[in-house]
Amino acid sequence: MSQAQAGILQPLPPLSRYLAFSLEPDSDVAAGLAVLQGLVDGDRSVAGIGLAPVSALGRKVAGLKPFPPLAGPGVDIPSTPVALWLWLRGDDRGELLHRARRLEAALAPVFRLEESIDGFKHAGGRDLSGYEDGTENPEGEAALAAAIAADGSSFVAVQRWVHNFKHFEAMQPEERDDCIGRRRSDNEELDDAPASAHVKRTAQESFSPEAFVLRRSMPWVEGKDAGLMFVAFGHSVDAFQAQMRRMVGLEDGIVDALFRFTRPVTGTYLWCPPVKDGRLDLSALLGKA
Ligand code: HEM
Repeated sequence: MSQAQAGILQPLPPLSRYLAFSLEPDSDVAAGLAVLQGLVDGDRSVAGIGLAPVSALGRKVAGLKPFPPLAGPGVDIPSTPVALWLWLRGDDRGELLHRARRLEAALAPVFRLEESIDGFKHAGGRDLSGYEDGTENPEGEAALAAAIAADGSSFVAVQRWVHNFKHFEAMQPEERDDCIGRRRSDNEELDDAPASAHVKRTAQESFSPEAFVLRRSMPWVEGKDAGLMFVAFGHSVDAFQAQMRRMVGLEDGIVDALFRFTRPVTGTYLWCPPVKDGRLDLSALLGKA
């Protein structure tokens, strides 16, 4: 029986390294995926596969689609396709670096490393704005139901957001709480939050059908830039897409107040294959093992 990649369902690690690869032209995609199978267990390292390798093999993965660029009043959501995404989970930055280098070297004939970003857990699970992130995440059976399809596959939406701390710090504490819809001091939800508040925009039960996702986001920092690596797993990409459309105001013209201090600079959807006998189950792409 195939199962989900274990790292998807586990609590956040202290540290992460996110690797985004493109596909080398004219390369042997099946050979590259076979290398991946030998190196990625789905637990310490989680893999997501984009459309390019799937279509290069002449295959289809039902539910895997391009990430749509969106535009709302004053906001743009970029789409930046990725052929292979690896989420390295760990607790030692040096070990993560060396694991990443081994993967980069082994995959190099087929997958070219385009971006490598280090993530970390901050203040017990807060975004760099200081707000607790993940409070309304489904847990246990509900997390499985939200994130994992019947065959053990999952889909992930990955977006790197860059925070503008100057803008954030220029706001009064009450304005900041109104952006999120929760109080930073005690994480209480605000009864009188404006319609633009992030938790009002994304309230998972308020969509029809309900739009539950399993968020596994972490702060990142690179030189002088920092923000949130937003990572949301779903049994399909539909719940994420419904939330994103509402955030940019495509439902009612109201834009999520988060955009007052942060913007996404990347955006992609990937398919996270299931695991069978401790290895990624790529039979959907490579034929039966
Ligand atoms: C920099 C970007 C973002 C930041 C800083 C952020 C932060 C937060 C915070 C602080 C909460 C409240 C606590 C919690 O329930 O986790 C929250 C809730 C939530 N966020 Fe975000 N978020 C970001 C982007 C997104 C995006 C892009 C989506 C989806 C398109 C999203 C979906 C959600 C959902 C579904 C909830 C829970 C809503 C509920 O059911 O109450 N977030 N976020």
